[in-house]
Amino acid sequence: MNKQTKDKRITKILISAKDLELATTKVAQWIDKNYKGKNPLLVSILKGSIPFFAKVISKVTIDMEIDFVAYKSYTGKNKMEHPKMEIDLKQSIKGRHVVVFDDICDSGLTFAFIKKVFTKRHPTSLKFVSMCDKKAARQVPFKSDYNCFDIPNEWVVGFGLDYNECFRNLPYVGILSPSVYQKQTKHKK
Ligand code: IMP
Ligand code: MG
Repeated sequence: MNKQTKDKRITKILISAKDLELATTKVAQWIDKNYKGKNPLLVSILKGSIPFFAKVISKVTIDMEIDFVAYKSYTGKNKMEHPKMEIDLKQSIKGRHVVVFDDICDSGLTFAFIKKVFTKRHPTSLKFVSMCDKKAARQVPFKSDYNCFDIPNEWVVGFGLDYNECFRNLPYVGILSPSVYQKQTKHKK
């Protein structure tokens, strides 16, 4: 933690690639332990959870299936009033053990919304896994069943997390320098 980077657009690395490697191994072990023989459906929330989800599933050893949903919550750093579903699951979750993955739990709105929608579809169980959690930013009460890292209420990028679709490919999670979004706001004027 608190490691510096040469990339001037990142003020601080919060979660290193090594931290992420270890954390994803632990999530995979949690899945193995809790879902053996249950053929769980692991659901990735696009696009932010892709690197986290891919790392975890590559380390899961039990039989399982995957599916995807897409929700849009932000335009740049501006939060939309409600998360908007853009892509739904391909299959029914009735009678399935479902585990939903996201890059970050921020206001809690996305997870809370998915919980409401999925519960109506009668899964046998429904759990939520977050790579990181900004607890100070909650707008609705929500607690992930498994969270890897608690982080401060700052705009973070990397390992799936974006700012205006950029930075998702960084191998770590870091705090975005305010100069990046201040510059872009100036351009728009
Ligand atoms: P929530 O619905 O507010 O909990 O937000 C969840 C979604 O907001 C995440 O899936 C991210 O796409 C996005 N988000 C929230 N905070 C950040 C951040 O600091 N960086 C990048 N994306 C974020
Ligand atoms: Mg997202």
